[in-house]
Amino acid sequence: MHDALTTLRDASTPPEIFRRMAVRISLLLAAEATRDVPSEPVTVQTPLGPAGGRRVGGGVVVVPVLRAGLGMLDAVLELLPNARVGHIGLQRDELTAVASQYYSKLPRDLTGTFVLMIDPMLATGGSAVAALDLLQQAGARDIRMICIVAAPEGVALVEQHHPNVHVYTPVIDQGLNAHKFIVPGLGDFGDRLYGTA
Ligand code: PRP
Ligand code: URA
Repeated sequence: MHDALTTLRDASTPPEIFRRMAVRISLLLAAEATRDVPSEPVTVQTPLGPAGGRRVGGGVVVVPVLRAGLGMLDAVLELLPNARVGHIGLQRDELTAVASQYYSKLPRDLTGTFVLMIDPMLATGGSAVAALDLLQQAGARDIRMICIVAAPEGVALVEQHHPNVHVYTPVIDQGLNAHKFIVPGLGDFGDRLYGTA
């Protein structure tokens, strides 16, 4: 995990490698965050006879926060192939760093579901809190969030507004700079993922 994170941080990493490392780290984080995902017992036939197993059902919802969260989605769906996917579009204002919503499409009722929200950067926490508010309004109660780099400010804001949401992150960095970017961080994740810097 930390090997991939170091490559993501490296400013010389091109988008193609950046995307690969984002997938790698997302798989590892998702595995950790879904250890207790609800599953049902099933029986399958091996070539030698019946074997008991478990399958993750459709009560799982993955929610990427656009646009950067899309870089984590395919990896998470590798682990949760039957999950439904909701999308939330949020964009930070370049000057104020305040997030505003431009899109939301969630499964109608999230009551009783297991929700995994994915957004690689948790900086001020404004985007995460706005997305979590939407999920809560839609009925979600069992919510986890995975992110790739977090700042102490963002972790504190999520804890304050959504104390029941567990945040999975490999690292909590020093803090935010004057432009509310994570330091040392990795820069603008969406721009590096898609080459729009
Ligand atoms: C980034 C990132 C988070 C947000 C974190 O998105 O993906 O959603 O910033 O910052 P915050 O904790 O201060 O709210 P951005 O708004 O840059 O949009 P993008 O994903 O479209 O690049
Ligand atoms: N969004 C990013 O992509 N990077 C940061 O450091 C902060 C917000």
